[in-house]
Amino acid sequence: MPFEPKEPQKEIKYQETRIYSDEELMNYTEEELKNFKIKHDIPDLEELEKGPWPSFVADAKQEALHRRKLADDRMLIDRDVVEDMLGQLQVSFDDGETHWKHGGIVGVFGYGGGVIGRYSDLPEKYPSIAHFHTIRVNQPASKFYNSDFLRTVCDMWEYRGSGLMNLHGSTGDLVLLGTTTEQLEPIFFELTHVLGQDIGGSGSNLRTPSCCIGKARCEFACYDTQDLCYELTQYYQDELHRPAFPYKFKFKFDGCPNGCVASIARSDMSFIGTWRDDIRIDQDAVKAYIAGDVVPNGGAHKGRDWGKFDIQKEVIDLCPTKCMSLVDGELVIDNKECTRCMHCINVMPKALKPGKDTGISILLGAKAPILEGAQMATLIVPFMKAEPPYDNIKEFIEKVWEFWMEEGKNRERLGELMQRFGLPKFLEIIGLPPAPQMVKTPRENPYIFWKEEDVPGGWTRDIKEYRARHKR
Ligand code: HEM
Ligand code: SF4
Ligand code: SF4
Repeated sequence: MPFEPKEPQKEIKYQETRIYSDEELMNYTEEELKNFKIKHDIPDLEELEKGPWPSFVADAKQEALHRRKLADDRMLIDRDVVEDMLGQLQVSFDDGETHWKHGGIVGVFGYGGGVIGRYSDLPEKYPSIAHFHTIRVNQPASKFYNSDFLRTVCDMWEYRGSGLMNLHGSTGDLVLLGTTTEQLEPIFFELTHVLGQDIGGSGSNLRTPSCCIGKARCEFACYDTQDLCYELTQYYQDELHRPAFPYKFKFKFDGCPNGCVASIARSDMSFIGTWRDDIRIDQDAVKAYIAGDVVPNGGAHKGRDWGKFDIQKEVIDLCPTKCMSLVDGELVIDNKECTRCMHCINVMPKALKPGKDTGISILLGAKAPILEGAQMATLIVPFMKAEPPYDNIKEFIEKVWEFWMEEGKNRERLGELMQRFGLPKFLEIIGLPPAPQMVKTPRENPYIFWKEEDVPGGWTRDIKEYRARHKR
């Protein structure tokens, strides 16, 4: 099932949308860049131009020079915005503290989120970053782009913003860093009308979902992460753009337990691909690994001499459930004991593959420390099929939302609500029977709640009846 957008995608041709000519885009020489000094002294930042890693300071200076040489009418916010940003950053290095004012509430009509307002607390000194708002642009699934799209975004952002971006924000969005309030609606208009592109989420709502590269380029993918991510992003646009929740809520989609978007740690609802039949074994390929004809782990450890590949030491003995063995040179897996940890498949990708009866596990409640402590997600749905139109998944999501939207306290993440209610009550509310897979170990304390209907005689007792048998 290939990834197919449900609506025709706008085809963008940079030659038709472009704002700047090639001469304008390359309006400075290497020599000029080498000798270029921005208008503020930034000694500490210039230290960060040294060393082998790509320097954000060097990149920002390049953009500052480019803006300085563009004609005045070729950008709608102050040309000095990048220089002032660097200047203020240097002050923050000196003072050891931030120079952005608290908060900022800006946005576009119709939406309650997507733009993060920010104002400098040194506006006289750095007037061109007095406003420095950030716009979250919903990235395409797995961040595949073509250059026509990126060049069109870049031209628009050069014209109406600072030219500085973050590719990408931790949640996934393409982040446009720094513009003024007046430019927000025009930017939104151009994103939607020219680029066919919406903004992402912020605030107490569904944030921008994101997924691993999935079936596009990974043989481990157990479902089409991009398709599910795209489908749910479209299906829940309202929840994404207009905050209706007690607090933020994130979806992330990993194609297998390797967790390349870290859904288990960074999303309230984590979708992780898995399978429930047998690992597929190509015995000839296993032999080729044993013979040393194929490098283990796709060559990931080539940088160091780890000796000849030893399947016993590197695979069989490391299997967490010890369910593998080598019998007469053939690899045997006791699949009912396999926890699908991916280790053996990761080591021998040419010989082992996930099974064919694939689907997802759904885990809930991951969050950062504030307020009640950090949480990774906890397993709630051990296995569910993940096939379009994904009605089973939507039904599950809505049951969870219905409960959290009603019962969640102000600024209480799902993970905290689950702690407050307790897993048994939570499962009862969303209508799932408890299963041993939902806990790592049974509880160790005996403070167990019983429901009155499950206890013979119930809770109503008469003390006199008791005293008839036990003297005071
Ligand atoms: C059927 C017999 C028993 C029942 C139903 C019972 C029930 C309880 C209950 C409901 C509590 C309060 C728990 C809470 O704070 O939430 C408690 C506390 C306690 N029980 Fe028992 N108990 C029983 C037998 C015993 C016996 C035989 C001992 C000692 C020889 C004992 C020692 C204690 C102690 C020391 C506490 C206080 C624990 C604390 O506050 O940390 N109990 N018990
Ligand atoms: S999470 Fe699994 S399926 Fe997705 S890219 Fe990583 S290894 Fe591949
Ligand atoms: S996936 Fe993990 S648990 Fe399953 S057989 Fe391989 S190493 Fe063992």
